[in-house]
Amino acid sequence: YTVDWDAEAAVKGGFATFMDKEIHDQPQAVADTLLGRAGTDGRLQLDEMRIKESVLRTVDKIVVIACGTAAYAGHVAKYAIEHWCRVPVEVELAHEFRYRDPVVSEKTLVVAVSQSGETMDTIMAVRHAREQGAKVLAIVNTHGSTIARESDAVLYTHAGPEIAVASTKAFLAQITACYLLGLYLAQLRGNKFADEITEDLAQLRAMPEKIQRVVDNEEQVRAVARAMKDEPTVLFLGRHVGFPVALEGALKLKELAYIHAEGFAAGELKHGPIALIEQGQPVFVIVPSPRGRDALHAKVISNIQEIRARGAHTLVIAEEGDEAVVPFADEVFRIPQTPTLLAPLVSVVPLQIFAAALATAKGLDVDQPRNLAKSVTVE
Ligand code: AGP
Repeated sequence: YTVDWDAEAAVKGGFATFMDKEIHDQPQAVADTLLGRAGTDGRLQLDEMRIKESVLRTVDKIVVIACGTAAYAGHVAKYAIEHWCRVPVEVELAHEFRYRDPVVSEKTLVVAVSQSGETMDTIMAVRHAREQGAKVLAIVNTHGSTIARESDAVLYTHAGPEIAVASTKAFLAQITACYLLGLYLAQLRGNKFADEITEDLAQLRAMPEKIQRVVDNEEQVRAVARAMKDEPTVLFLGRHVGFPVALEGALKLKELAYIHAEGFAAGELKHGPIALIEQGQPVFVIVPSPRGRDALHAKVISNIQEIRARGAHTLVIAEEGDEAVVPFADEVFRIPQTPTLLAPLVSVVPLQIFAAALATAKGLDVDQPRNLAKSVTVE
């Protein structure tokens, strides 16, 4: 059997790996997921929303069920949907949801997030939720998949086929679909003034270009990753929507480079994790926008000071123009200025590139990491 490398190269779009190709596909994956749904008139069209508007208006709780990276997309969604809709959003690992006798009623909207639509843990959780009378909306990337077929409505992501086992472009598309759902519900339920939704949609439509700018800066990240290829452990800190981004950055590094990595809520440092900080300990910190609310930016800057004072090697993801981070950062990876809730679409990208580049520097297979399957079709 001989590999037709030209065919392989063609399928990978000229990239060395599917992972590289899919990281570069991300602006298009987000744009395609927005296409036709985020109207320039500020109206949202989610034609595939087969759940009656009268039902969506009376929903009193949203439960996102998912696994792994898809669950982190759900965690980002929680901040955005609760802000826009004022409806409580719980995010549940599908395999935990099913066995904890959850409180679900016909007023619960369950949102099942899954790239493959075949994850058995999530399928079983969907079935359990429907038995309890909940309406189920699927956010899936695979047309005609089991979760799509067994849900009441489907909001497809349009990331295209994701071949690499570790998810990248599907993750950004999942977050995008969750934003669309949140804005759609806000519009339907009249929570937000129309002009605020119009502005949020305009910001969302500007994201593909911003993601492209981060991908274009990949070489800085790759160089740092190569220099760190022998690190035994890396920590990730984030606050607010940066917290699920920290969790996803850690998961990417575990999956691709097989090294210990852990994501924390930055506010949790003093409650224990700061004991892990010693000389040279690499720590990524995702910094909120300086224009954000609640002084989150200042709090994260002080977190960076705390760990730097104890010898941490600080790798900071910060907005263009944010100079406050510079005195405490060994490395700064810049992202475009972005509204706080939408920032995960750009702040996760350097972490994806870092994990893939470090794994490559270790000579590992970034498309097919050991022990992993693209879709976990067993419980
Ligand atoms: C993603 O990098 C992982 N391979 C894994 O966590 C994945 O997100 C999880 O298994 C869920 O898969 P799904 O989105 O196809 O349901």
